[in-house]
Amino acid sequence: MTTTKTKGRIADLRAAVTAEQYGTCGIGHTRWATHGVPSESNAHPHQSHSGRFTLVHNGVIDNYRQLQATYLNGVNLKSDTDTEVVVQMMDVFAKDGLSTEEIFRAVLNELAGSYAFGLIDMQREGELFFAKNKSPLLIGVGNDAMMLASDAMAVIRQTDQFVEINDREMGVLTAESYHLFDGDTNEVVVRAPYTAAIDADDVEKGMYPHYMMKEMDEQPGVIRRIVQKYQAKDGSFTIDADLMAAINAADRLYIVACGTSYHAGLIGRKLIEEKAGIPVEVVVASEFGYDMPLLSAKPVFLFISQSGETADSRQVLVKIKQLGHTAITLTNVAGSTLSREASHTLLLHAGPEIAVASTKAYTAQVAVLSILAETLGKANGHTQTNDMVHELGIVANAMQTIIDEKEQIQQLVHDYVATTRNAFFLGRGVDYFVSLEAALKLKEISYIQAEGFSSGELKHGTIALIEDNTPVIALITQPHTQLQIRSNCSEVQSRGAHVATVVTESLAQPEDTFVIPNTALELTPLVSVVFTQLFAYYAALARDCDVDKPRNLAKSVTVE
Ligand code: AGP
Repeated sequence: MTTTKTKGRIADLRAAVTAEQYGTCGIGHTRWATHGVPSESNAHPHQSHSGRFTLVHNGVIDNYRQLQATYLNGVNLKSDTDTEVVVQMMDVFAKDGLSTEEIFRAVLNELAGSYAFGLIDMQREGELFFAKNKSPLLIGVGNDAMMLASDAMAVIRQTDQFVEINDREMGVLTAESYHLFDGDTNEVVVRAPYTAAIDADDVEKGMYPHYMMKEMDEQPGVIRRIVQKYQAKDGSFTIDADLMAAINAADRLYIVACGTSYHAGLIGRKLIEEKAGIPVEVVVASEFGYDMPLLSAKPVFLFISQSGETADSRQVLVKIKQLGHTAITLTNVAGSTLSREASHTLLLHAGPEIAVASTKAYTAQVAVLSILAETLGKANGHTQTNDMVHELGIVANAMQTIIDEKEQIQQLVHDYVATTRNAFFLGRGVDYFVSLEAALKLKEISYIQAEGFSSGELKHGTIALIEDNTPVIALITQPHTQLQIRSNCSEVQSRGAHVATVVTESLAQPEDTFVIPNTALELTPLVSVVFTQLFAYYAALARDCDVDKPRNLAKSVTVE
């Protein structure tokens, strides 16, 4: 067996692998550093000192220091990783007469934490062992090969047939077969493959320079597809009756999410409260699981997650299920962990999102939330709702208008943030929620220190940050707050800020910087956010950043 490791991109690894290393059984992993710096010595796979066991691992072993102290006293470790502790333990636990499965299970029984493991034992040629707890892992069933992957998309060009692996299951692959066991009881698990509904062509970048640009461009089409997918024969929207009944039985809906999905949840709260009259709280998953507030008497939980694999959200899902509450997942990935483990799933139908910076998934989340809000509102008679089918059509056209004006946005980037240290986005209400997303997008791909502020809060502290030429981008789409935001703009302008205003047509004044088409007021976030996505994209380009794979980030955040 040979091992090749590199620091950096997969292309670097590909270049380092020689033809002599090609084989028929192998493991690989792109490590997102949790223990120890990104380096070749910390890169996976890790090998036991005897050379018998080689391991890749996605996840975090919480008790690795205790395990090291207990089992590896005097054993010299070659890396700083928790993973190496596990593979060295394989050597320690290996005894004459024990099978690989028995050694592996004995080690797994000692572990606390999350893992998706791929293991090679030199004494079992042509077999690949695996185990899963909390971290995602699937078996891919090919025509002439078996494979393991964290995500179906990673191997969709090889197969569309997948077998789910549940927590605390383990097993072994050969080229022709897969065997799955319950890790605790050792009983055989029989599970048939399912077909993943991913079009391999959707994973291609095509003529686009970056996935992010492709995905931003796809947004009008995604909105139209969502309308189609949720439309009944009579033209109105329809949502699974059991899901609707679950929400209608609740006295409060808790939206649980992270990052961009959390920002979509903030818009969702407004839509659902206004259209359906159901109280909603939006919570950050990584906080909520460990600092749970006093819940209402009959809560229902809505998890929003593009990937459906986010560990922070999943730990909440596990906890609220233990408390006996209902979970609904809004996700882009059918068959993902959060979808499988919830009682109901709403799909985004956005197609695969590859760029780390989420764009079309955000707008798809807001669009599906608006359909959910409208459908709930119509069913419970809370409001006279709009013709949302028509309104979302207008949104799709408005998005296209902004996309067609991308050169103007690129110019604004040069005028405002090409060399700046920081930037601020302002708004109130939904414009504030979009400001939060705008700032996240800008910082994640251009590394400009950006913040989204409620413009009314500026004078309570933040305004101290304003210096000569500090870029401030104000989003103004709501008539009832436009004058207040404009006043707040003039306050920062008086202190030297370089202010750009992004305003809907009906509110626009001659001095405004960028005008976006009118849409239904509650849907303006779907349009204003497209400006901010393009703004972030061109800022990243201007600064020569890796748009699709920004530093330190992963697309699917599968560790807590
Ligand atoms: C968005 O641009 C980010 N990459 C990130 O905030 C992301 O939205 C977050 O990690 C949540 O991911 P999820 O939607 O897959 O759960």
